Amino acid sequence: MTTNKKLDAWVNEMAVMCQPDRVVWCDGSELEYQTMLRLMVQAGTAMWLDQKKRPNSVYVRSNPADVARVEEFTFICAKDKDDAGPTNNWRDPAEIKQTLTGLFTGAMKGRTMYVIPYSMGPIGSPIAKIGIEITDSPYVVANMHTMARVGKKVIEVLGADGEFVRGLHSVGAPLAENQPDVPWPCNDKTKYICHFPETREIWSYGSGYGGNALLGKKCHALRIASVQARDEGWLAEHMLILGITDPAGKKIYVAAAFPSACGKTNLAMMNPTIPGWKIETIGDDIAWMKFGPDGRLYAINPEAGFFGVAPGTSMKSNPNAMLTAAKNSIFTNVAVTPDGDIWWEEMTDAPPPELTDWLRRPWNPGCGRKAAHPNARFTTPARQCPVISPDWENPKGVPISAMLFGGRRATVVPLVNEALSWQHGTFLGAIMSSETTAAAAGKVGALRYDPFAMLPFCGYHMGDYFGHWLKVGAKAEAAKLPRIYYVNWFRKGADGKFLWPGYGENSRVLKWVFERVTGTGKAVDTPIGRLPAPGALDLTGLAVPEASLAEVLRVDVEGWTSELPLIKEHLARFGAKLPQGIRDELAALEQRLQGSKVSAGAR
Ligand code: OXD
Ligand code: MN
Repeated sequence: MTTNKKLDAWVNEMAVMCQPDRVVWCDGSELEYQTMLRLMVQAGTAMWLDQKKRPNSVYVRSNPADVARVEEFTFICAKDKDDAGPTNNWRDPAEIKQTLTGLFTGAMKGRTMYVIPYSMGPIGSPIAKIGIEITDSPYVVANMHTMARVGKKVIEVLGADGEFVRGLHSVGAPLAENQPDVPWPCNDKTKYICHFPETREIWSYGSGYGGNALLGKKCHALRIASVQARDEGWLAEHMLILGITDPAGKKIYVAAAFPSACGKTNLAMMNPTIPGWKIETIGDDIAWMKFGPDGRLYAINPEAGFFGVAPGTSMKSNPNAMLTAAKNSIFTNVAVTPDGDIWWEEMTDAPPPELTDWLRRPWNPGCGRKAAHPNARFTTPARQCPVISPDWENPKGVPISAMLFGGRRATVVPLVNEALSWQHGTFLGAIMSSETTAAAAGKVGALRYDPFAMLPFCGYHMGDYFGHWLKVGAKAEAAKLPRIYYVNWFRKGADGKFLWPGYGENSRVLKWVFERVTGTGKAVDTPIGRLPAPGALDLTGLAVPEASLAEVLRVDVEGWTSELPLIKEHLARFGAKLPQGIRDELAALEQRLQGSKVSAGAR
């Protein structure tokens, strides 16, 4: 319970509307976590894994109709449609509130309403923010225990008049008297994930899965927080945070934005291949950054756990993620082995001879189906990560020296490219793109622009968001701002094979970035930005042919030139809200590309 009158009144109002059988205020205790796991096991939602193999861990299967974030039902409900911009779905806040009020009335009948006080960020950090999630799902309560700091201590910090983001969530499956429950209640007809940026509210109905339901994550820490950040002069970004230490013990911190399926979690927890260098993890998905008293940008990871995509994760691709998830974890929509452990695609070189797949069917390697759902997840505490940074809970955050932007590009984009300025870096973020793969519906190799990897997560007009980035840069001392880099681990040669080995070898690029920001790294100016000077990238011991290395760093003037019309078309979406600084950078790029073609022709 709370002394905060606004909180008390809101919870009462929501309880009257949702009509649960009972209301429970979550205290965040271990006992409460265990109670949620037991409730899930009793309800058939979860199954205990073998306690020797995966101590204190459970296995959950969702309804097959509720397996991922539902972007088509995700709405920004700003008063003015133009504030949502061309990249978001929009609903009028008053109208949608009426619809939602209808849906939420009686939505929790037969269920318990849990009130989860949570802090995004270390409790009491000046960068952290408090939210309250009301939910009728024990799965959400258990996951929030891992993904955020929850319970009594948050209520204490909130005090009598602290501000909080209001998050209301229901699986949208009320129970009539004596109606038996199903293992994964959800609403297979109606889903709404609605954000009200002006009133800092989230109303989520019908789904119990991931970012739709764990409201602290994408809904609060990105969509609502991006609006708060715009209003208050800071940054809420879809970025990992890592620390990199050289053999002499000097450390810098780097934040990096990549769209989904580009290896963010792998980079955040990488084991570097260059001797004597160390990478430590602060976060794998979200960074909140504010200026410190020294004028530098300080970042916190607002989350306390990792909600990672399981398929593809292995002792080869990400041993530190595997070791993190060795205990105290929730595995959702993976496959199970006959001896009570978990498995997913690529977890081991050879699959086990038999499994039960995520749809509860017998599975064997020749059956032609995937054993785990492609969006199967592990929920696991960040503190268990073997390479977690000693500063990951530092309330002041960590000073960011560099930011990386990147995507999956088979062509055109070189391994690494340093922006010429903050404004140029903002432009590179604005034109971030990734090629769709065969795994996704649509044309293979088609370019999808995903500015700052925020396409599904920016809570306001993306043109204004670019403007906010430029404003943040303009108000800081240029030398104190992080340097910005555009990276691409995925460039391919004419034979269709990757030119760069990726994974731990990406530490070589991080080393160059480290050397650039600490003043020793050499670079050459090119029409697209600054690339490593010959010999500046440490390639010692790397078994990659010379020709591949030359190609992965080649500045493809023709390729960039032929992409200009696509970049223009992409930026034109933002209309009058496209800031002048971005227009200027586009014109400057065009000019530099033209200039380099003229001088190449004259030679
Ligand atoms: C995530 C995502 O789940 O970006 O982190 O979709
Ligand atoms: Mn993400």
